[in-house]
Amino acid sequence: MRYVQGKYPLLAKNNIARGIYEMNILAPDLAALAVPGQFVHIALAGHSLRRPISICRIDEAHGVIKIVFALKGQGTRDLADVPVNSTLDIMGPMGNGFTLLEPGRKVILIGGGIGVPPMVGLSDYYREYATAISGFRDASIKILQDEFEKNGSRTILCTDDGSAGIHGFVTQPLEELLSSDGHYDCVYACGPMPMLKVISGICGKYDTLCQVSLEQHMGCGIGACLVCAVNIRRDGEEHFLHVCKDGPVFDSREVVW
Ligand SMILES: Cc1cc2nc3c(=O)[nH]c(=O)nc-3n(C[C@H](O)[C@H](O)[C@H](O)COP(=O)(O)OP(=O)(O)OC[C@H]3O[C@@H](n4cnc5c(N)ncnc54)[C@H](O)[C@@H]3O)c2cc1C
Ligand code: FES
Repeated sequence: MRYVQGKYPLLAKNNIARGIYEMNILAPDLAALAVPGQFVHIALAGHSLRRPISICRIDEAHGVIKIVFALKGQGTRDLADVPVNSTLDIMGPMGNGFTLLEPGRKVILIGGGIGVPPMVGLSDYYREYATAISGFRDASIKILQDEFEKNGSRTILCTDDGSAGIHGFVTQPLEELLSSDGHYDCVYACGPMPMLKVISGICGKYDTLCQVSLEQHMGCGIGACLVCAVNIRRDGEEHFLHVCKDGPVFDSREVVW
């Protein structure tokens, strides 16, 4: 795992939905190393532990990365308060990102809630060959649909309460797509564990490769503290691996759900 650490200027900050912020950060060395699915580990004054946030977009040409995060506790609230033009103490890119197939392969990207941001980096890569299925609790926290559309990716929006798009879960359009033509080369997914488990089952049923990005509480972020252990079956045996160092992306068939 090759990563850098430094103080990087915050170029822009926007409140893009209720309690959700995007930030553009100038970090050319980090952007040059990053692939979709990796995350940054951000230090904040007054907090002993860094906070992990997925890299949403990598603009290597301009040396800029975008992150998108939801306010959860004091750490993310303090992050949202960081003023534009000041610097953020960041380590990254951390972890193993998604494995990319050749451009032009047909893929499905599934994001649940704040699991949608890492799917944008995949849409930047697969563009019109990607179908992005996004699920939110309700329309007030719908994010990033324009970014998929600008890339030419097909977008399918779902909400739990029917306030926008399809009234239901992301697993419904996934099953429809896989059963209708079955020519998708990979499904990529990030979101809550129960959602990932169902997606993994559906992909298994249609024998479609599926890569999932798991979220665990984190301490060190570099494989030294075991806080982020996850049970993975590899070579016929179960192992405790680190989400921070061995993941966050795993082949869904390896995860002991
Ligand atoms: C690899 C990875 C990538 C992530 N990417 C994003 C992202 O792109 N955008 C985003 O908004 N969030 C992301 N998260 C989650 C984010 O790190 C947490 O929401 C954040 O650390 C919470 O910090 P806080 O100080 O605001 O809240 P805290 O006060 O630390 O916690 C508030 C609540 O959130 C729970 N919580 C804290 N950390 C986690 C966690 N890692 N998983 C589940 N529950 C947690 C706590 O138990 C508590 O209930 C990611 C997490 C991981 C592990
Ligand atoms: S966060 Fe310390 S080992 Fe993963």
